[in-house]
Amino acid sequence: MSIFDERLSVELPRLQTLFDGIYGDDRAARAELAALVDDLRRSWAERSPELRRLDDAHEADPVWFSSNQMLGGVCYVDLYAGTLEGVRARIPYFRELGLTYLHLMPLFLAPAENSDGGYAVSSYRDIDPALGTMPGFEALAAELRENGISLVVDFVFNHTSNEHLWAKRALARDPLYEDFYLIFQGRDMPDRYEATVREIFPDDHPGSFVPLPDGRWVWATFHSFQWDLNYENPAVFRAMANELLFLANRGVNILRMDAVAFIWKKLGTTSENLPEAHLLLQAFNAVCRIGAPSLLFKSEAIVHPDEVAVYIRPDECQLSYNPLQMALIWNSLATREVNLLAQALEERHALPAHTAWVNYVRSHDDIGWTFSDDDARVFGIDGFEHRRFLNAFYVDRYPGSFARGVPFQDNPRTGDCRISGTTASLAGLEAGDPGAVNRIVLAHSIILSTGGIPLIYLGDEVGQLNDYASLELPGHAGDSRWVGRPAYPAARYLERTDATTEAGALYARFRQLIETRKRTTEFAGGHLVAFHTHNPHVLGYQRGAVLVLANFSEHPEALDAERFGALPTSRVDLVTNLLVDLSPGLTLGPHEFVWLGPSPAFAPSSAPAL
Ligand code: GLC
Repeated sequence: MSIFDERLSVELPRLQTLFDGIYGDDRAARAELAALVDDLRRSWAERSPELRRLDDAHEADPVWFSSNQMLGGVCYVDLYAGTLEGVRARIPYFRELGLTYLHLMPLFLAPAENSDGGYAVSSYRDIDPALGTMPGFEALAAELRENGISLVVDFVFNHTSNEHLWAKRALARDPLYEDFYLIFQGRDMPDRYEATVREIFPDDHPGSFVPLPDGRWVWATFHSFQWDLNYENPAVFRAMANELLFLANRGVNILRMDAVAFIWKKLGTTSENLPEAHLLLQAFNAVCRIGAPSLLFKSEAIVHPDEVAVYIRPDECQLSYNPLQMALIWNSLATREVNLLAQALEERHALPAHTAWVNYVRSHDDIGWTFSDDDARVFGIDGFEHRRFLNAFYVDRYPGSFARGVPFQDNPRTGDCRISGTTASLAGLEAGDPGAVNRIVLAHSIILSTGGIPLIYLGDEVGQLNDYASLELPGHAGDSRWVGRPAYPAARYLERTDATTEAGALYARFRQLIETRKRTTEFAGGHLVAFHTHNPHVLGYQRGAVLVLANFSEHPEALDAERFGALPTSRVDLVTNLLVDLSPGLTLGPHEFVWLGPSPAFAPSSAPAL
């Protein structure tokens, strides 16, 4: 039996069961599945020997992504490097930084102006001609792979742009393609759906539907030019499975599954996080296990933490953004208290085997305060009021705030609001706050040490600031997230090797932390044990034998000796290599953190080189 047939025989029954769960006993669905098996066979025949070798290697080591060597970076091709060729030219820098994972923001054909930064895809098989070509993309993927860097791109599978061929045909009333979207005559069904769904981009349009020129209504969760696909139609699943396999064969290693929460709609519900959304993801996962076994999924579920967790399993999404940790890092920087972050690490950090978090300080999107109100109530915090405080704090409407963020989708009707901005501007660099550099480093020290893949928004390591001018560009007005997506900060990058500059000082500390992470095997995997510091400003956790302590206030904070109880008191700070004696207790300076190995034997001077 060929390896393909072996994999097919294992996974097809699962795919069949998932199809039954999604579509019931439906003849059309059965026909699509049979056709999909043929598609898979064709796609496998075209898969390169090199990618097949990678499939074997990753099947044999399904937790390769949990290594402490992993470090992610994310950037827009045009903003960071101009073109795909420009990205290739930056590979030496990616190696200097230590990247092993590169997320290139959407780079496919998209409407000229209204593209939501590429999240309105007009063809999954064509690269935006301004950025390069598909052969160029394939060559870049291969070159990254040779340099030990996995390529991550978005799979924007909840919707297409209104310029996608399928959308154009639907608009022209081709019945085959009308059924690819959720299109209704009149307001009856849209009204009934909208009675229970939340508004996602209220600045763009109220509700979930937008009118078509001929008076019909189409479901558009995000912008009016992003039309949601109708996964109730099994032909849509098969069509998108083929797009997925196409990308996998070009050399993509990880797909960032965009907007997973929204892919299944049901009348009378919020149409978010429905059981069928999970079945669909599992079905796509099964498709990969057969046709592109090394391909991984990263879930983009920026929702309640209970719901985020459900997407993360080896047979669904092996990786997931950690939006809770992200939001709570910013919460702790604003409140100077670690209660919610410590609770999240203790209660919500553990994941199933063979999965991992992607930990990040910020993304290209807004910061949403996705913590659980029940969790907050444990500390007497009212979720609604607290979000109001955080929003005011981060848009500098709170006395003494160091942050320079911009509101996103401010909805006075619901009180909902999110925050846009770069890490540096949000952390105080733009405002000239003296604690800014320390805050930026502290925030990154958390994502580098809690377990999972740390993901840096490239440019943040040299302190890039908000770009207000980009709001003036065509297609950007009304979407404040562009403030946080500045172009490659060339001057700052030039200064990065000069530690007397702001960028250089910051970069040196990033490098030091990254190098320390990479030689500290305790930072592999995701296992974390909470360490209660009994100081409201100091976060603590153990990663194996390494004790992490982090002071979120701008004042010195003391931990008394009894906190360390029976723990070994002779320590070394793995970042600075300095010996630390915990027997008299420990005082951390403003925003100071330490990664404490148990004994001098941990010091790199006496440890074998890794
Ligand atoms: C995701 C993207 C965001 C985009 C949306 C619609 O949330 O991160 O940038 O606007 O999906 O595709």
